[in-house]
Amino acid sequence: MSKKILVTSALPYANGSIHLGHILEAVQTDIWVRFQKLVGNECYLFCADDTHGTPIMIAAKKAGKTPEELITEVQKEHYADLTSFLVEYDNYYTTNSEENRKYSESIYLTLKKNGHISARNIEQSYCEHDKMFLPDRFIKGTCPKCGAKDQYGDSCEVCGTSYSPKDLKDSHCSLCGTTPVLKESKHLFFKLQDFQDRLKVWMEEGDRLQEGASKKLQEWFHSGLQEWDISRDGPYFGFAIPEEENKYFYVWLDAPIGYMASSLNFFKDEKKFNEFWKEGKGEIVHFIGKDILYFHGLFWPAMLMGSGYQTPSQLNVHGFLTVNGEKMSKSRGTFINASTFIRYLDPEHFRFYMACRLGNGMEDVDISFDDFVSRVNSDLIGNLVNLVSRVSTSILDKLDRKLGTLSSEGKQLLGELLAKENEIKDAYQTRNYSKVMREITSLGDKVNKYVNDYAPWNLIKTDAEKAREVVTVSSNCAKILFTYLAPVTPKISEEIKKLYQLDKLDYSNISEFLENKTLAPYAMLSKRVEDKNIQAMIQDTKDAYEKANKENVKVEVTKSETQTSSKEVNESGTITIDELAKVELRVGLIKEANHVEGADKLLNVKVDLGEKGIKNVFAGIKSSYKPEDLVGKKVVVVANLKPRQMKFGLSEAMLLASGKDSTLSLFVPDKSAEPGDLLK
Ligand code: MSP
Ligand code: ZN
Repeated sequence: MSKKILVTSALPYANGSIHLGHILEAVQTDIWVRFQKLVGNECYLFCADDTHGTPIMIAAKKAGKTPEELITEVQKEHYADLTSFLVEYDNYYTTNSEENRKYSESIYLTLKKNGHISARNIEQSYCEHDKMFLPDRFIKGTCPKCGAKDQYGDSCEVCGTSYSPKDLKDSHCSLCGTTPVLKESKHLFFKLQDFQDRLKVWMEEGDRLQEGASKKLQEWFHSGLQEWDISRDGPYFGFAIPEEENKYFYVWLDAPIGYMASSLNFFKDEKKFNEFWKEGKGEIVHFIGKDILYFHGLFWPAMLMGSGYQTPSQLNVHGFLTVNGEKMSKSRGTFINASTFIRYLDPEHFRFYMACRLGNGMEDVDISFDDFVSRVNSDLIGNLVNLVSRVSTSILDKLDRKLGTLSSEGKQLLGELLAKENEIKDAYQTRNYSKVMREITSLGDKVNKYVNDYAPWNLIKTDAEKAREVVTVSSNCAKILFTYLAPVTPKISEEIKKLYQLDKLDYSNISEFLENKTLAPYAMLSKRVEDKNIQAMIQDTKDAYEKANKENVKVEVTKSETQTSSKEVNESGTITIDELAKVELRVGLIKEANHVEGADKLLNVKVDLGEKGIKNVFAGIKSSYKPEDLVGKKVVVVANLKPRQMKFGLSEAMLLASGKDSTLSLFVPDKSAEPGDLLK
């Protein structure tokens, strides 16, 4: 029986561009939705731009636009970027819509009527010049713990301490520099704790949550559910709260309601809408990143419960995209925007690679470009595409492009391919895409072996009819494999459909064989990736970053980068010989080594650098060294590193080492070297 499923991806913030991390999520979702549609389920994919909040209001002001103008432009750009990766939305809407206003108001009023909203005064930083309350990210100052300058109002990026903006030293408004004052105002709170019991049941019902997500939610549960501040004072770009004066819904209140609004805007009337959101006649499935689990696993279901709507049937949480094993970085050129990627590379290749990398867990997903090139070139092009291209050009031309009939050997091979149908479907359904890809490539290998054994390029000269038989078998195999692959490579599969002159390529005709059929002319399916395009894309990303820095334009910092952005400002990919010469490497003798309470990786070491004195160092070497074994060891030390205030104290130098975890080992100078000797 066919299922009804309403699927969403998280709504991208309108204050930044779409980057490959967003695309990971969009592609993961789209593959699942395409699969559901392919097996005949009634499935919808809804998304929207998340448009409200202070950052957007400020960005618009700076650009000399109204927020409405800005978000309209951004929405167009976002939609173009996302769909260029072949993501097919049933509706891509905006949270700044009448539908969303209506539902935000009515959900809020119902919660209020049911006693789930409370009000009290709180004190917050206020800028008298800008006449507004300042969100933590708009306050800057000196860290109260370590003294680092120019830190945000909520946490220090140097020592990692979290604090209240009130405790920040010489705090100032990041917009105008004025010192904020503390000012009281009434805030409205959603009483999340009212839903403690119902949430507990919800979490454990069915297979709503992955194991990791469920663990995380349990942790939050144990540390106690807190009321949630859902109001902001004006000026604020958002929806005014009914029955209040100059108060607006905090962006995260109306953002998830944007899922409903996008679906209502698509369904037009409330009949279908209610089937999903009121009557439980379909599934509601959200795809999100791990950073927004709290909102989707606690606030959102509680809001829905408290206002009489259906709660999500499933949360599918993914990890973050890393590039070459590291967090994406603008200065290294790996914070790649979707629009940059498509200028140099094929988006379908990204889909293919992501599918190879994605399991159904919450671990981060890495794109290593060397691996990307080899997977695409060997598995997609060399194996699967080649299976079609090698027989569909000159060989088929010589056979008047006509297939013959299947041999019994061929039928057996096709049987092996078809036997995998259920396994592959299960893997798609459970989002084990990497398993799907392993199955498909291994089937592809089998078929290629069959073709190689008969070598139709030789047969065509001696026994054309035998060649026709081999081509018939391999074409039928390709039809099955590209049906399996269709959710991942929709464009290639579409070309296959044309080549085989089919009116559809899905599971309803997967076991219909093509015999005695004339094939269309072959059109190029997909090209190999070239390393030089990758290099050019990375360079382009770096250049754009450097240019933006030079012009002193504030680079838009999207949320996933906020943790690293300030650290990266001074980095660039390479250093000159002059820069290298500045590094002072010296021999150090370890005098003392101790554990650091509360640190998993660090040891506290005192190293003697001869004339340079004894320096205090926090070194991440605990995984392979015991303090008692270190004393008396000679090591290589970066002696002129600017002292860094770390969470546990001041670190004045750095020990050189290679490897990580249990393979980590310190660099050791020559035995005869003396403490303080300069290494050249
Ligand atoms: N606007 C909120 C979501 C509201 S949903 C009602 C938001 N926006 S976001 O633009 O910051 O992120 C949108 C989605 O992209 C989130 O699911 C987030 O986890 C995901 N990603 C953002 N950066 C990412 C990576 N680097 N890697 C993978 N996904 C990441 O959060
Ligand atoms: Zn100000």
